[in-house]
Amino acid sequence: MSVAEAKKAGVVIEVKHPLVQHKVAYLRDKDTPTVHFRKLVNEVTLLLTYEATKDMPTEDVEVETPLELGRFPRISGKKVAVCPILRAGVGMLDGVLSLISSARVGFIGMYRDEETLQPVEYYSKLPADVADRDVILLDPMLATGNSTAAAVETVKRAGATSVRLIAIIAAPEGIERIHRDHPDVQIVVAAIDRGLNERGYIVPGLGDAGDRLYGTK
Ligand code: URA
Repeated sequence: MSVAEAKKAGVVIEVKHPLVQHKVAYLRDKDTPTVHFRKLVNEVTLLLTYEATKDMPTEDVEVETPLELGRFPRISGKKVAVCPILRAGVGMLDGVLSLISSARVGFIGMYRDEETLQPVEYYSKLPADVADRDVILLDPMLATGNSTAAAVETVKRAGATSVRLIAIIAAPEGIERIHRDHPDVQIVVAAIDRGLNERGYIVPGLGDAGDRLYGTK
């Protein structure tokens, strides 16, 4: 399925809200300092979380206001497990938790084997009841999709049946990869860029998200 078809089918959502686009333009700017970059990643993630959770089921419950008794919607159904992919995904965690404060948190660490170029999982700590939760994976840059696809496999192996991904920028290659291996995974992104360069960076992108978040360059 092409990116255009995936968008039409609703499995890929590109959030075009002006606030999101405005903040992502600042993230792309090579002169945006770490302190602002970190704050912007949080803010963009919060706005993407709003979009990613818009189909959460609700049920009417009885509530007594100071004036009268009524029935009002509250979120029902599964609880959330939010799982950042180390290390850059951790920069997005607070953005989700500021909206879903009761979420449990899992961590997945991946590195790329320089010989096979395949992702290798070096760390995984998931909530014990992850199988009963809606999983939100966090990775700011969906580039080749190799490590994200491996992270999806990790949570599915642990029993998760409902998985979505929030990323800030995606390359079409990454979207196609996730969609090919995991067509059930919904992807919510702020921007879909042109593609990947020869070093696997998203272009025009924003550079290395981890380095920019943590000032390690
Ligand atoms: N990871 C990043 O941090 N940036 C890219 O452009 C691709 C992968």
